[in-house]
Amino acid sequence: MGYNVGLLGLGTVGTGTAKIIMDSVGRHPLLEEISIVRVGVRTLDKARAVEFETGVVTDDLASIVTDPNIDIIVELIGGVKPALNYILTAIEHGKHVVTANKAVISRHGDEIFTAANAKGVYVLLEAAVAGGIPVLTPLKQALGVNRINRVTGIINGTTNYILTRMKNEGVDFDEVLADAQRLGYAEADPTADVDGLDAADKIAILASLAFGGRIKLDDVYCEGIRKISAADIAYAEKLGFTIKLLAIAQGHRPENGAMPTEIELKVHPTLLPKHHPLATVDGVNNAVLVEADPLGEVMFYGPGAGEGATASAVVSDIVSIVAALEGGSQASNASGNPLLRCSHEHYTPVAPMDASVSRFYARILTQDRPSVIGHIGLAFGDHGVSLESVVQIDVHDRGAEIVVITHKVNEGKFQAALTALQALEEVVSVPSVLRVW
Ligand code: HSE
Repeated sequence: MGYNVGLLGLGTVGTGTAKIIMDSVGRHPLLEEISIVRVGVRTLDKARAVEFETGVVTDDLASIVTDPNIDIIVELIGGVKPALNYILTAIEHGKHVVTANKAVISRHGDEIFTAANAKGVYVLLEAAVAGGIPVLTPLKQALGVNRINRVTGIINGTTNYILTRMKNEGVDFDEVLADAQRLGYAEADPTADVDGLDAADKIAILASLAFGGRIKLDDVYCEGIRKISAADIAYAEKLGFTIKLLAIAQGHRPENGAMPTEIELKVHPTLLPKHHPLATVDGVNNAVLVEADPLGEVMFYGPGAGEGATASAVVSDIVSIVAALEGGSQASNASGNPLLRCSHEHYTPVAPMDASVSRFYARILTQDRPSVIGHIGLAFGDHGVSLESVVQIDVHDRGAEIVVITHKVNEGKFQAALTALQALEEVVSVPSVLRVW
């Protein structure tokens, strides 16, 4: 039996998707059952890297999502609107959906999956997180028999590329960002990537699968990499760390191993010990480390973006749907394949950031005079913050530069200590505060 696909978007990922489906030799045999029958694009008169029969390509995307001849809609236009409307209309018309759109899922997953479950269709999104790396499917399937305790990811290639170049070349953020934009590794408007919003979308999706509940995106604590300086990277290197933008979802399970009643969910730059498995993930690559019981640590590593990589994830979802349909599994609650459909319907509460526990790094500019280090130690000690190391390497015309690393401490206590520290007469400024793994 054949299955008809309607493709929305023929950009980089759409083109890669069409290439795999139209050149199925030596790949999964189910690909031979799949045909792209309609392709929706914004402008018709653009040169394309793949050719379709006359009449397949159209700029009327609304007609594709209602076309009775189509079984699976593949949404690759990105952004929230109008993608959300196309997805919901496709579901309403009984079509399965494959999407690479993390923004629409992290914001509107609730209504999308509720509608899909009610209609008995599948919505799959492997390509939305970590591009070509299979991570959502393993979380739902092979890892699903484990109790997941923590998921930690480098899931934004742009920021990882910028941080890697800052480390290798010893230059500041603005300089590398401008070059990354020139080379096409960063968008003209880099906000979603460099401010951590893209990683927040993705960790919300990962957390939802790992901890079996829906997530409110606003609950994700999010801090980007704009404030990281060459000086911080150099200090981190000297102290045995590398700085990475980490996305972390952590659950503290009750004794009986049940799903956590509250999870920690955060995106922030982190000083990562150089021996940590994620510390060597450089350039545009992504990696996701899953800590599972009883499996232990398992790490997924590879290309988090790009035509072929992301298309690989998209097409794998299409094949999964076709396989389920071939086996007679429509996605209705009664008979749907439980490894493919979304089975959770409640929200998982997220712990306030103040309650989270971490080590901290602070770079402090002070006057260079006796007792400064003592006063800094007291400001921390008075608030119950214990210091693991204190170093003063640089003295320059602006004074002394003192770097401290704390022991693990509650975020609220650290912030109170920081306020007290900034009020000290000898403290000129605290240019950076970062969390340490
Ligand atoms: N902008 C993303 C990144 C790629 O830099 O990783 C697609 O998710």
